[in-house]
Amino acid sequence: MALPASDACGARARLLLRACFGREADACASAPGRVNLIGDHIDYAGGPVLPMAIAARTHVAVARMTESSAASRDEFASEWSGDAGWMRYAQGVLIELRAAGIAVPPLALAVASDVPVGAGLSSSAALEVAVARAALAAASASLTPREIALLCQRAEHVHAGTPCGIMDQWCVAHADVDAADDPASASAAILLDCATLAWERVELPRGLPRELAIEVVDSGVRHALRDGGYAARRADVEEAARLLGVALLAELPRERWNEIDALPPRIARRARHVVRECARVREAVAALRARDIARFGALLFESHASLRDDFDVSTPELDAIVERARADGALGARMTGGGFGGSAVIARSA
Ligand code: GLA
Repeated sequence: MALPASDACGARARLLLRACFGREADACASAPGRVNLIGDHIDYAGGPVLPMAIAARTHVAVARMTESSAASRDEFASEWSGDAGWMRYAQGVLIELRAAGIAVPPLALAVASDVPVGAGLSSSAALEVAVARAALAAASASLTPREIALLCQRAEHVHAGTPCGIMDQWCVAHADVDAADDPASASAAILLDCATLAWERVELPRGLPRELAIEVVDSGVRHALRDGGYAARRADVEEAARLLGVALLAELPRERWNEIDALPPRIARRARHVVRECARVREAVAALRARDIARFGALLFESHASLRDDFDVSTPELDAIVERARADGALGARMTGGGFGGSAVIARSA
C-alpha cells in the first residue's frame, strides 16, 4: 500500500536513523514548509504578513543516547548528502533548548524532508521546528508554539548567522497545531502582526463561484549571495527607520509617507516598498474576506513589481514566471519569501 507523502517522509527519517546509528526512534516529529501569500521583507520592519503552510514537511526522528552508548554528544544524519550547512540549524536548536533549561539528552537525530531547500519555502524553519518538537518529545518536555517559534528564530540568528524576521518560524510552528480538531485550519493562511505577534487565521475563499487556487512554482535558481543580500536589505530598512525617527518602519503613519522622498535614493526605494507592502497586506486580507479574488490577485502583481523595482530581490527567472502567469490569465503572481531566487506564488480562480 502506498503511504501518503508525509508518512513516507517520516518513514524515511526512521529508516535513516536505523541505517546511520543502528537505533529505533524514541520520538518523531514534523513541521511543514510555508508559502507567503503577500507581505515580504516587512516582518523585520514590524509589518503584517500572510503566510500559509504547504503540504511538504520535514520529519525528524531521534533516539536518546543511552548510558552505555559511547557517544555523549549529539549525532546528525540527513538526506541532504554533501551539504552539512543544515546541521548548524539543528545544532542551534538543541543548544538553545538546553540554554532554556530543558534537559534534552544527547541525541542521535535523522532528518528527511520533502521541503525543497533554498526554494523560498522555509526549509530552514521547518527543520528548526521539527527538531525542536522531536527534542522536546525526547525530553518529555513541552513549549508553546510561540515559545518554539521565538527559540527557533534565535537559533537561526545566533547559530546560522541569518538575521531573519519571525514570519517563517511563527507560521511553521502555528500552522498545524489545531489540525487534528479542525482540519480546515491547516489550509488557512496566518495573518501575523510582526510588531505585536497578534495573529489570526484567514480562510481562503473556497467553493464556487469564487474559489481561489494557490500554486507554487520553484524557479530552480539558488542565489549564492542570498544571505549577504538579505542582511543588506534589512540594514537599509533599519537605516530608513532611524532616519525617519521611528522604532519600526511599519509604524510610519501614512501622513508621513512623503518624508520618504527626502531619504537617500536607495534607502527611499526600500522604505517605499515596506510601507506600501504593509498597506497591501491589509488590503489583501480585506479582499479575501470580501471574496474579491480579482483584487487579491492584483495586489500580488503589485507586490511583485515593488519587490523587483524598489527592493531589488527578484531575479529574471522569477520575473518570467510572474509574466507568464499574467499572460495565461492568472489573477495574480509574485515572488515569495526572501528572494534572490526561490519560488513564485500564483493565484488562480479555480
Ligand atoms: C525570509 C526570512 C523571513 C522574511 C522573508 C521575507 O524567509 O526568514 O523572516 O523576512 O525572508 O519576507
